[in-house]
Amino acid sequence: MGGAIPPAFSSCYSRLVLRTSSLIDKQNILMQKLAIITGGSKGLGKSLVEEYCKRGYQVISIARSSSDYHHPNLRIQIEFDLSDIEHIETSLQDKLKEVFDNDFDKVTLINNAATLGQIGKVIDYTATDFNKAVQLNFTSPIAMSNLIIKLLRSKNTDLSILNVSSGAANKAINGWGMYCSTKAGLDTISKVMAGESNGLGYKIAIVNPGIMDTEMQGAIRNSSQEDFPLVKNFQKYHKDNLLVPPDTIARLIAEMDEKNDYENGETVRIEDRFDAPRNQ
Ligand SMILES: NC(=O)c1ccc[n+]([C@@H]2O[C@H](COP(=O)([O-])OP(=O)(O)OC[C@H]3O[C@@H](n4cnc5c(N)ncnc54)[C@H](OP(=O)(O)O)[C@@H]3O)[C@@H](O)[C@H]2O)c1
Repeated sequence: MGGAIPPAFSSCYSRLVLRTSSLIDKQNILMQKLAIITGGSKGLGKSLVEEYCKRGYQVISIARSSSDYHHPNLRIQIEFDLSDIEHIETSLQDKLKEVFDNDFDKVTLINNAATLGQIGKVIDYTATDFNKAVQLNFTSPIAMSNLIIKLLRSKNTDLSILNVSSGAANKAINGWGMYCSTKAGLDTISKVMAGESNGLGYKIAIVNPGIMDTEMQGAIRNSSQEDFPLVKNFQKYHKDNLLVPPDTIARLIAEMDEKNDYENGETVRIEDRFDAPRNQ
């Protein structure tokens, strides 16, 4: 049988649809939701903090500095260097435990903080600098995920882990050895974690936000042609107004998360979800 609704039932049907969707909205508002966002002080992370606060989530931001954003739902801004990998668990556990004493229906962890690392030839990298980038871009999302999974163990909470990656994860870009390789590693470990998630209560996505107008892009544009041969392309993206405001990307990420609109282990290109031309 086709899906057409006979006219006699159509107003009844639309009332039912309206009632059902407003029930879903109410249920959504009544749900206890928490978002933990790394790198919430600037750029995309700051926009995510604002977006999730507005959507009624309790929000925790973790970065080396705090932003000037205030909202009753912004529970804490934890100032912590996430490349200090050995102290992630000991330094963050107690602060997070306090918040986790409440029961949440849904928790979202967004591993967003990252660095470009040193821009230039691999031969010029020091092992120490390389390690810092690995620890922030690759190891800290794993440590954060493990910590939150453990804190939620034995609770009936849906956990979404969104690992912010980059198109650079799939390319070998001269001058970006640190960035490409650490993001590639993050993509791979996220897929492994998706495969191992059965019974652990989490779902994970790799989120490629696309090029955004943030400090990170400013740093890219300011690099030298010698260190980064593609620098002119990025200067042109800026000149041609192709960088998307991070607020737009944050809204699309939160929408995707709330609608649960991704597969476990999927790589989501936010660009594919634009509902308007890029520059609006
Ligand atoms: N911008 C783009 O065009 C673009 C494109 C593709 C992917 N991405 C990805 O999108 C994400 C956000 O990028 P963005 O452009 O918003 O970057 P951004 O403007 O450089 O902001 C980075 C954030 O990470 C925090 N952070 C940096 N180092 C940290 C550390 N050691 N410990 C804790 N927090 C640290 C920074 O805060 P503090 O300085 O206060 O610590 C800041 O809040 C990143 O994962 C990036 O790789 C960006």
